Amino acid sequence: MLTSKVSCCLVAHLAILLGLLLLGTCRGQNWSSFQNKHIDFPKSSASNPNAYCNLMMMRRNLNPKRCKPLNTFVHASQSDIQAVCSREGTRYKDNLYDSNREFPLTDCKNVGGNPPNNCNYVGTPGTKKIRVACENNYPVHFELVHTTG
Ligand SMILES: *[C@@H]1O[C@H](CO)[C@@H](O)[C@H](O)[C@H]1NC(C)=O
Repeated sequence: MLTSKVSCCLVAHLAILLGLLLLGTCRGQNWSSFQNKHIDFPKSSASNPNAYCNLMMMRRNLNPKRCKPLNTFVHASQSDIQAVCSREGTRYKDNLYDSNREFPLTDCKNVGGNPPNNCNYVGTPGTKKIRVACENNYPVHFELVHTTG
């Protein structure tokens, strides 16, 4: 009686632990989280690029526990960005694809502040090719931006 209660409890705890582990490894690696982190189209308005980054990083809840050091927002439609995984992209290696064309975007670099709502960013607008990791033809991870060349 007692032993079965204990082992049941243990199993429940292990199941919870496993669930948390799975959640952890999958965190942020899907199309919907990609859109939240990396797509802002049409571009939200702000008085300047720094203010834009401060606002967007807060609005998208990207700094829950720490100020994320770097993040890029691409100002193109979901379908244009998704297409990088197929006809609008060139495979770099593995599941990484480079966009064939340049996208307007804003790079946000953290320069201090406090999470979750007072992280300070320097925003740098640009137009660059992007590299994304694709799963089932959907971008799930933003790899980097290429300097134009
Ligand atoms: C995508 O990842 C987020 C965590 O970043 C998670 O909350 C959400 O449930 C995931 N969505 C799907 C469809 O797996």
